[in-house]
Order: sequence, then C-alpha cells, then structure tokens
Amino acid sequence: MPDPSDLIEAINRDGYRALLDRVLITEEQLGRRIAELGEQISRDYAGKTPLLVCILRGGVMFLADLMKRITTPHHVDFMAVSSYGIGARATRGQPRITLDLNTDIRDRHVLLVEDIIDSGHTIDHVLRLLQTRDPASLRVCALLNKPARREVYVPITYLGFEIPDEFVFGYGLDLDEYFRNLPFIGVVKKEYQ
Ligand code: PRP
Repeated sequence: MPDPSDLIEAINRDGYRALLDRVLITEEQLGRRIAELGEQISRDYAGKTPLLVCILRGGVMFLADLMKRITTPHHVDFMAVSSYGIGARATRGQPRITLDLNTDIRDRHVLLVEDIIDSGHTIDHVLRLLQTRDPASLRVCALLNKPARREVYVPITYLGFEIPDEFVFGYGLDLDEYFRNLPFIGVVKKEYQ
C-alpha cells in the first residue's frame, strides 16, 4: 500500500497518468454499450414511467449518460450508501444508508443504477430495504460486474461489462476520491493499489 502523501504528490505532479496501468474500457466502448442499455431499458419500460435510482456517488456518471439514452418518460432519485471508510482500501463495514429517497416507491417500477457490483453487499442492502416499500418492480442496472469478488447473490438485469478482479477507477469510480471525472475506466498501477 503506498504512502498517502506519495499518492497525492504523484497525482499533483502527473494527474491520473501517474496511477494508470492501462485503460480497461474506453470512452467509445462505454458510450456504445450505454446506448444499447438505454435502448433495451426504453423498450422494457415503455408506458411504465420507471424511477431510476442512482446510488451515489459512483453511479452519477453512469446515470447521467444512461438517462440521455432512455427515450421513455422516467423519473430519477438518489440514494447514498456508505460501506467503506475513506478510500477504497479501507476496511469495509455494514452498508449504511446515508441518503434516502425523496420518492414514495409504492407501486412504482424502480431501476437501481450502480457503477459496480463487487462483493454485492451494498446493492443487496438497498434491494432488501426497497423491497419492503412495495414497489411494482425492482431491478438492477450495473455498469460493471466483478463476479470474482461476489459474496452475496445479486440479480443484475442490465449489465454494461463484466470485468476481471482488478482495481479500477474513472467514470464515477474513485481512487481515494480522485478521478471520478475520467471518461474511461482504467486499471490502477500495482504499486498504488
Ligand atoms: C462502491 C460502488 C458500489 C459499491 C460496490 O461504492 O459505488 O456502491 O462500492 O461494492 P460492493 O458490491 O462490495 O458492496 P463506495 O462505497 O466506494 O462509495 P462511492 O460510490 O461513494 O465511491
């Protein structure tokens, strides 16, 4: 594990290039796949006014691009779940809702929008909670799936990409809170993992 001050120094000196081993999914690949997901969701939810629920903070880029590709009328709302300390390497704990929905989801068609399903605990916690509120349907749309790390079963209806067990960042996913803004998904150099 790198010294945090070395990491910040490298970021301030060279930006993301200091930490990037390689690009795993390009901006073009993301755009193409998200357009396909948007078409599929538009078809499946035609006439149903789904509620897209973005899980902050990682899901924000994906939601923003996905909703532009959904042609059927829909609403959006946000939740935040905290399961880690500061930084992706911190010890994980029990997921905790830190921001709940403003929307009453009884009889609504709810689609959870997540950046990544890793162990599965975060989305499992949200699914269990929202199911108690009697939605008409409740499904998961995830940009990335890391099956090698799964600890609990998660039903993913819409999936962008299955990825290997590597430390990824960019496009909503952070590296110690940096680089959520990158338009691609990159793999972190081994020495900074
Ligand atoms: C990340 C990611 C998912 C979760 C996936 O969130 O956005 O919500 O971890 O991991 P899991 O499947 O093992 O639960 P994080 O807690 O890092 O917060 P963030 O979205 O604010 O970065």
